[in-house]
Amino acid sequence: MEYKVEKNKVEILINNKSLNIELLNKNIIRLYVKKNKCDLIDLNVKKARRNFEVKQEDNSLIIIDRNYKLLFKEDEGVSLYFKDSYLTSISFNKLFDEVEKREYFNTSFKINDNDNIFGLGDKMAYLDKKGYFWASWATDDSNHQDELFPSLYKSINYLLLRSNKKFFGVFFPSTFRLTFDACKTDLHKLTVNNFEEEQDMFLVLGDDIKEVTRSYSELVGHPYFIRMKMLGYQQSRWSYENEEMVKTLRDNFIKHEIPLDYIHLDIHYMDGYRDFTIDKTRFPDIKTLSEKLKKDEIELVGINDAAIKEDPEFDLYKYLEDNHLFGTLDGKTYINAVWPGDSGFPNYFDDKCKKYFESYASKFLDDTGISGIWCDMNEPASFNGPLPDEVDFTFGKRKLLHKEAHNVYAEHMVKSFVNTFKKKNIRPYLFSRAAFATTAKYAFVWNGDNFSLWHHLRYSIPQILSLSMSGFMFNGVDIGGFGGDSNKELLIRWLEANLFIPFLRNHSTLHTKAQEPYAYDEETLNIFKKYLKIRYEFIPYLYNLAQEMSFKGEPIVSPLFYHFEDDENTLEINDEYMVGDSLLVAPILDKDARRRMIYLPKGTWIDLFTGKKYIGGKYIIFAENLAESGYFIKNNTLIPMFENLKHIKKSEIDTLVIKVFGNSGKVKIYEDDGETLDYEKGIYNIYEARVNKDKFTFKKVKGSYDSPFKKIKLIKDGETKIFDFKDDLSEII
Ligand code: NOJ
Repeated sequence: MEYKVEKNKVEILINNKSLNIELLNKNIIRLYVKKNKCDLIDLNVKKARRNFEVKQEDNSLIIIDRNYKLLFKEDEGVSLYFKDSYLTSISFNKLFDEVEKREYFNTSFKINDNDNIFGLGDKMAYLDKKGYFWASWATDDSNHQDELFPSLYKSINYLLLRSNKKFFGVFFPSTFRLTFDACKTDLHKLTVNNFEEEQDMFLVLGDDIKEVTRSYSELVGHPYFIRMKMLGYQQSRWSYENEEMVKTLRDNFIKHEIPLDYIHLDIHYMDGYRDFTIDKTRFPDIKTLSEKLKKDEIELVGINDAAIKEDPEFDLYKYLEDNHLFGTLDGKTYINAVWPGDSGFPNYFDDKCKKYFESYASKFLDDTGISGIWCDMNEPASFNGPLPDEVDFTFGKRKLLHKEAHNVYAEHMVKSFVNTFKKKNIRPYLFSRAAFATTAKYAFVWNGDNFSLWHHLRYSIPQILSLSMSGFMFNGVDIGGFGGDSNKELLIRWLEANLFIPFLRNHSTLHTKAQEPYAYDEETLNIFKKYLKIRYEFIPYLYNLAQEMSFKGEPIVSPLFYHFEDDENTLEINDEYMVGDSLLVAPILDKDARRRMIYLPKGTWIDLFTGKKYIGGKYIIFAENLAESGYFIKNNTLIPMFENLKHIKKSEIDTLVIKVFGNSGKVKIYEDDGETLDYEKGIYNIYEARVNKDKFTFKKVKGSYDSPFKKIKLIKDGETKIFDFKDDLSEII
């Protein structure tokens, strides 16, 4: 066998091609026939010197590193071992494309009977993707229902595999259409096709699922750090279409004392669906409106679509057209239809285009007082058939055809707006429907158009968790369901089920039944108030997790197996989730159900509502009437909380609550101003709180942020003790 070793790379020559194996660091190996340029995405490849040995035995080549081993045989491909555990064998199969009349390789992974295939982002499916065919090709299909729809809005080419009780990841950086046959055709093969390029992949390894997830998140970029306010409740519909409707909405939330942080404006606020314009007949003075709302601590988020109305009188269109900043076909601006009718598709890949959007949006936010940008229709969606493969979005000096640009179009769109916020020293409020695997560092996501159907509620949990395990850790679905009419019971159960997901937004489509918390009856309203009170109490707990997400790549919500990977029972659980490592959520997801089976992993768990303790390591039958939901806190946990909030304004919160579940525990609490980028300069605090039976200590371990906290309220065994806030406290309780 012919091969070359050069620094961290082994190149094996086979039939005029070479298979390259780059040992990037202790957890990441890159495997490729032809290296992808990766110029459309930003990867964070940390190279570290590896001391490895290469030896030839019989007909195999063996690469032995301290952490992993790769064994290459010409007829079998590469077998991968991590610390002596066999993970999979990767084979490269030569195929012939009859249409294009050319040869290409696909890649197969050997999958054993008990192996699992997780990942792939936003699919409407259960956590394990085995048995189905999937694709990465950003698709706007508002009728998507289930596993029959291989691609949804996002293209997240990340597989989280489990073999021999070990998790590992595989990431394909290609932005072309990819398909994944997840043991559908062959029970023991996961086959990945890329018709346009030779396969290039990153293998992500680690001692446990947490290390794998952190390493993957680091490679594609940790999700960006959100504003604390974004953890609040958000109300949307298509559309609160004029000033009166927005004011009425605000008045109703205030009258009914329902917490609210953001109101979303859907496309009707624009003038003829032109991006970054206001329909003056509907919103005569939006700046005054948003300023008034801000006095009530409610902020506005405005939708912004990818394509721009073809209108020579519209300055944004004119600038892009005059500067050749639209995608072209046969040398002319390519036009297709979206909400505004005929529209061009900006070349967001071009720096000049990005810069123009950055400042155009910045002025718009200043002029209107709108606080957040909601990027929609950016697959890109088009109503007159799909964009042809040949639409050209020139990138630097090279042609960039739609077939390569499509899956990463949304990423370049959202990238245009990151500095719109950052230049104002505020963390972006920026979210997107479409995304590539590397987008979470720029924008968070929601899952697009679900329906007000019970099975969509059921799927919301594995969808959110799959996204979370695929690097999109700040995400959510439209609670209550987007398409179709919701109903009282469904809306209540949806809130209970999604209460702790990072992005909590109620949204629904045109002409559907009202879906606001007060739209049904007194009981619905009271249940909403009960649950949103809990959500707002848990804000510091969630914010701690949001910080860990952005600093370390730790998910906010995760499947049970993320925290209990040695417990095989957790692999089958699609209807429960963990929030951090201390809170387990097990809601009702079926119509009329009033009890359910809950799996509690090993340990003692405390029912959040009754305080009753349950011993885990088994299934329990648990009653959940309409106003009840299963939330369990791990015994001996301290939860940092806020109290009595109707909105989140960090600078005005003066009491930090610490609630003890059990007898003792400790917690690290992260604190900063909740909205600016000052944390990047180290302006934040980290505290450590401990309770050891009757002793309470609270200490600032790091930081220079001038905290507004005045009091600490310690709640233990139903009793409350209040202390003056100090950086160093030690009390007998
Ligand atoms: C499609 C989006 O998915 C949905 O949330 C929005 O309401 C409509 N576009 C209208 O803008």
